[in-house]
Order: sequence, then C-alpha cells, then structure tokens
Amino acid sequence: MGKIILTGDRPTGRLHVGHYVGSLKRRVELQNSGEYDEVFIMIADAQALTDNADNPEKVRQNIIEVALDYLACGLDPKKSTLFIQSQVPELCELSFYYMNLVTVSRLQRNPTVKSEIQMRNFEASIPVGFFTYPISQAADITAFKATTVPVGEDQMPMLEQTREIVHKFNTVYGETLTMPEILLPDNKACLRLPGTDGKAKMSKSLGNCIYLSDSEADVKKKIMSMFTDPNHLRVEDPGQVEGNPVFIYLDAFCRDEHFAKYLPDYQNLDELKAHYTRGGLGDVKVKKFLNAVLQEELEPIRQRRKEWEKKIPEVYEILEAGSKKAEAVAAETLADVKRSMKINYFEDKELIAEQAKRFMEGEH
Ligand code: TRP
Repeated sequence: MGKIILTGDRPTGRLHVGHYVGSLKRRVELQNSGEYDEVFIMIADAQALTDNADNPEKVRQNIIEVALDYLACGLDPKKSTLFIQSQVPELCELSFYYMNLVTVSRLQRNPTVKSEIQMRNFEASIPVGFFTYPISQAADITAFKATTVPVGEDQMPMLEQTREIVHKFNTVYGETLTMPEILLPDNKACLRLPGTDGKAKMSKSLGNCIYLSDSEADVKKKIMSMFTDPNHLRVEDPGQVEGNPVFIYLDAFCRDEHFAKYLPDYQNLDELKAHYTRGGLGDVKVKKFLNAVLQEELEPIRQRRKEWEKKIPEVYEILEAGSKKAEAVAAETLADVKRSMKINYFEDKELIAEQAKRFMEGEH
C-alpha cells in the first residue's frame, strides 16, 4: 500500500497567507519530498456550492483563482494531480452510500458544522447538502485511498468523521476503505493565522486577509495598518506579544536568517520579542521587518502566478487532465465499495449462476 495525499480547498475566493502556512506550503514540500506515490489536490467546487447554491458564478470564477494560487505556490502538475470535485461524479455515489452509516445527531455534533451553522445564521434553514458535507468529504478522502490529509486545524472534525465512516464501513462490509491520517502544521502559529485586524480567523467578508496574489504595495499597506497590542501606545511602553498578530505572523514566517538580512540588531525572534515586552521597540519597526520577511516569501509566488496568468487555457487543460485521472481512480474505489456492499450484480457471475440454479430447482 502506497502513501497517498488528498487535500483541497473550496473555491470561494483567492487563497490567503493563512491557507499558505496552514496547508499549501506543506503540500508543496510533501509533493517534492518524493515520499508519496500520489498527490491529489482538489478544488472543492461541489462543497462550495453547499452554502453558495444561489451563487454559482462566484464558485465558477474562483476555480481559476484557486488553480492559479496552487500553481503559483509550486504545486506541479507533473507531480500532483490537480482536479475539480464536481467532475468526479463517483464522489456523489460514494457519499450516497456513506449516508447510511452516519446519524443525524452525529452530524449535529460535528463542531465545524455546528460553528458554521451559527456563523451563517442558518438555524433551521440549513441546506441538507451543507449539513451532510462532512460525509461528502469522507467520500473525497476515501475515493483516492488517501493515507495522509494535510489540512488546517479547522478540518480536524472532518477527519474524525471520515475515520468513523471508514471504521464503520469496514466493520459492516469488510476491509475496503483506507484509514486516513490528518497532517497538521507543526508550527503552532500556522494552525490558525489571525486576520490583520486581530480577529481569530482570516475571512474575506471581514476584509482582514493578505492574499497570495496581493501586490507588493497592498501587502505593505495591510501590514503597516495591522492591529497590534492596543496598549502599546508609545515606543517606550511595554508591549504584549501574546495574541499580537504581528508577532504571530512572525512566528509563522520568520527564520533566524531574516534577522541577519533585515534586522541585524537582533539574533532571533526571541530577542525581538524580549525587547518589545520590555518596552522601547516601536510597532513600525516590527511591522517593517514583518513586511520584509513576508515580501521575500510572497515575491516568487507572485512572479509564478503572473507567468501562469498568461497561460489560462493551459491551466484549464491541467485541471481537465487531472479530473480525468482522478475519476479513473475514484471509479476503482467505487467498484470496491459496490463489491463489498454486494451491489455488483452484473459482475458477480457466481450470483447469477446461483440464482439460476435456485429457480431451476424451484426452491422459492
Ligand atoms: N473542507 C475543506 C475546506 O473548507 C475543503 C475540502 C473538501 C477538503 N474536501 C476535502 C479538504 C477533503 C481535505 C480533504 O477547505
């Protein structure tokens, strides 16, 4: 059994630096590590439609944005299969059978579903498709026999749900599905990068995101106006680094080399934090440093994106070829599933012979 990666994103907007440190950067490293037999990266348009049913145009427009962000980050179509969820109909069929293995109350207890229902004010008007998306996510993961699912912390309950479905399926129908493992970022700051306004999550509707495709000037503007410690009014005041988004971003992005290059008065982040905590270090200086660090990381991504933007038809061809390959793999799993569930009537010659014999002998 090989090592297989599956992960993906909803195409509801361009990807931001939270996606990048939470999962994208890691995917590229895993892709290039050579340790995985297959890497599947899915644009989850069908899942995006579960809460954007009335806005298909938004989903349609963002497919190319997400694909460009993927390619810009270094996902390589020669090494990874990039595909679009809705183009793999086997995923629906798998979801349909998994639905029999999950209770309504279990879905209601799924923390991600619970909080998203609250956030979106769905209350009693939750679309059934939205409510059951953890099941469809289990189909996404198992269809590709994924062993490893690199995602952000917010996806933990989805993985838990998937593992339960795998366990249940294999118990009821016999060993068929592969049990996946979640792979979280090992840097704690990367688990959930806050918004530039200090809110817990980056979200397009809050306007607190730094996008991978933002221009250098936009990134700078966003960093220079970032929320910091509200009690750090004068340079000489002691400041707080805990919960301070500027320092959380530095935790996520900066390495010791960056100090030698951009801020040689300090050896490392601990020294910078100590000075800030003591007082005497202004926010502007720290923000300028963060800007230098972030620009260094984002510049090659921006350049690669610009190159791909000149080749849009080729990007669609990559997605089309990827979707075909993904479908072939999912079809194999679906065949396994149907065999295990004994709904493979026509390929089961023994069944046909048995039935013929039974009726011949007038057993019924
Ligand atoms: N739920 C994920 C998100 O919101 C997207 C997704 C859909 C996904 N199916 C998946 C992630 C399967 C990992 C595995 O970003």
